[in-house]
Amino acid sequence: MLDVRGVVKTFGGDGSARSLALDGVDLHIAAGELVTVLGPSGCGKTTLLRVIAGFEVPDSGTVQVAGRTVVGDRFVPAHDRGIGLVPQEGALFPHLSVAQNVGFGLSRMPARERRARVAETLELVGLAGFGSRRPHELSGGQQQRVALARAIAPGPEIVLLDEPFSALDEYLRESLRAEVRALLKRLGTTAVMVTHDQEEALAMGDRVAVMRAGRVIQVGPPRETYFQPADLELARFLGEAVVVDGHVQDDARVACAFGDLAVACANGCRGLCDVLIRPENIRVDESGAAGLVGTIADQTFYGHDGMLRVDVPALGAQVPVRVLGDHPHRVGDEVRLVVDRAVCTYPRQPVAA
Ligand SMILES: Nc1ncnc2c1ncn2[C@@H]1O[C@H](COP(=O)(O)OP(=O)(O)O)[C@@H](O)[C@H]1O
Ligand SMILES: [Mg+2]
Repeated sequence: MLDVRGVVKTFGGDGSARSLALDGVDLHIAAGELVTVLGPSGCGKTTLLRVIAGFEVPDSGTVQVAGRTVVGDRFVPAHDRGIGLVPQEGALFPHLSVAQNVGFGLSRMPARERRARVAETLELVGLAGFGSRRPHELSGGQQQRVALARAIAPGPEIVLLDEPFSALDEYLRESLRAEVRALLKRLGTTAVMVTHDQEEALAMGDRVAVMRAGRVIQVGPPRETYFQPADLELARFLGEAVVVDGHVQDDARVACAFGDLAVACANGCRGLCDVLIRPENIRVDESGAAGLVGTIADQTFYGHDGMLRVDVPALGAQVPVRVLGDHPHRVGDEVRLVVDRAVCTYPRQPVAA
């Protein structure tokens, strides 16, 4: 449905002020798919959406929407691409009512049908009855919902969302995430949602595309991205990571302080390597018979689950261990830790002299 190939975009003309915002981006998205684009601020996420939507012209590369070239041997203007964009900062027309904002892209529709579509779309985003208000009479979150309604009202092939929840408070953000995902799925809309929040990217995407410095470095289902990240930098960006020395045994096993572990992704490692283990993959052996010995130094209770911090002398490090909220352990307890899930290995970074 959406095909982005080799897109390069620089800003700022020639010389040292020139900045390479997109450095050869490839992204392929199937019809009906919701892909989240995750990356730190400044990595090129907004620029990528603006290129897809038609508000930036890339230096090179192509974009196709539903098999039609919109950037490449021809350039299709933004209004003719069948793409709805929810921009990063609320870009509602302040002098128009909410209903007029939502109806903005529906000028070709008969008035009656248009009114019905506006009302239906406002209801979809939970703002039924807000049509006659002005944007400044709404909260930030409500304004973002109007922006979403405006983007989806014309029934676009693709909806692009640029950090739509970043201005909202935590509680609203969580509930709106689930609502928006359900809504996009119900409409069957192909969608690309940009965020710098790893939890949001993992929770909302059918697949996650991770960007770094103007490139897409990994695309995959959320679980794969989390448990098999392309490198350790990404592993640490996505969540807590335990990294220990390992020695590759064969394609399927690696020896480390936790014993001989199964390998889920080897990344071409041989000999000495780094082993990535997630706190969720470490378990306290309740029989106390096997595993790496440590002492619980600290624990945090989150309700549904909790985190133990275990001092492990053999590693000379503190290891985070995710447990259920009602676990029986106390600070000061001696425990034995086992890993019973396949891990990933990474080539050892050359140590700088
Ligand atoms: N209009 C512009 N003029 C000059 N530089 C820009 C412009 N837009 C973006 N950039 C630069 O391109 C890079 C990527 O920006 P952006 O796409 O906004 O990143 P993100 O959305 O991931 O935070 C940044 O270095 C930014 O400063
Ligand atoms: Mg941005």
